Amino acid sequence: MAAAAVPNRWSSLEYGPLNTLTEIVAIDGPAGAGKSTVARRVARELGMAFLDTGAMYRAATWRAMKHGVPLDDPERLVASTSSMQYQVLGDDAAPRIVLDGEDVTNRIRTPEVTGNIRCLDGIPRLREHLVAMQRELGALRPTVAEGRDMGTVVFPGAKCKIFLDASLDSRTRRRAAESTGHGADVDLERLREDIRLRDENDRSRAASPLRPADDAMIIDTTGMSLDEVTAAIVSLARERI
Ligand code: DC
Repeated sequence: MAAAAVPNRWSSLEYGPLNTLTEIVAIDGPAGAGKSTVARRVARELGMAFLDTGAMYRAATWRAMKHGVPLDDPERLVASTSSMQYQVLGDDAAPRIVLDGEDVTNRIRTPEVTGNIRCLDGIPRLREHLVAMQRELGALRPTVAEGRDMGTVVFPGAKCKIFLDASLDSRTRRRAAESTGHGADVDLERLREDIRLRDENDRSRAASPLRPADDAMIIDTTGMSLDEVTAAIVSLARERI
């Protein structure tokens, strides 16, 4: 699969051109609903590219932290984000996130980065830069795009929109299983509170809050297996695209 390099050339602060092909499967939902795993599987089954937009917000946050950009200074956060060189290299099964030439795939997943994203993700002009990048990537190939605002803001013309949800307890259990799978100790109460706070931030911010698009299919994955969720989305996508 060809590497998708995203050049840094958005001088205007307008959103990029809308994807008119609409060969986009847009998957949104709260933290821990299983979006990433499901979106990757759906992309593989449909032979489409996979776009993880959360990784872009993570990369922007990590870059600001690395360069000591004050996290309460929107102007400087926007400037830092608009000058970042973001690339996704390798194949979709194991994509590497390369920022300014450095592989940051694992670094952007630390709890410190996760905790600081809320300082950036509510800044409208910062979102504009990332949305432009996302639209540009989505225009390259038929894509399964995953995030918080795929169906509402980034790809409003997508013919297949999914909103994945699950109870807070079930999302906490899933995240805990992922962490213990990676050998980490997990404080369940703390994890639950972290997820609850991220939900609150994602749903209540003024800029592109997390919500299902009016034409999205809402799937509550509580009690559903990965295979069942994947099959439901693949079948809807085949009908619509
Ligand atoms: O999907 P994730 O956990 O990697 O996303 C990290 C954060 O980035 C999430 O808490 C909110 C933000 N985000 C966003 O605001 N819009 C997106 N399209 C994707 C992620």
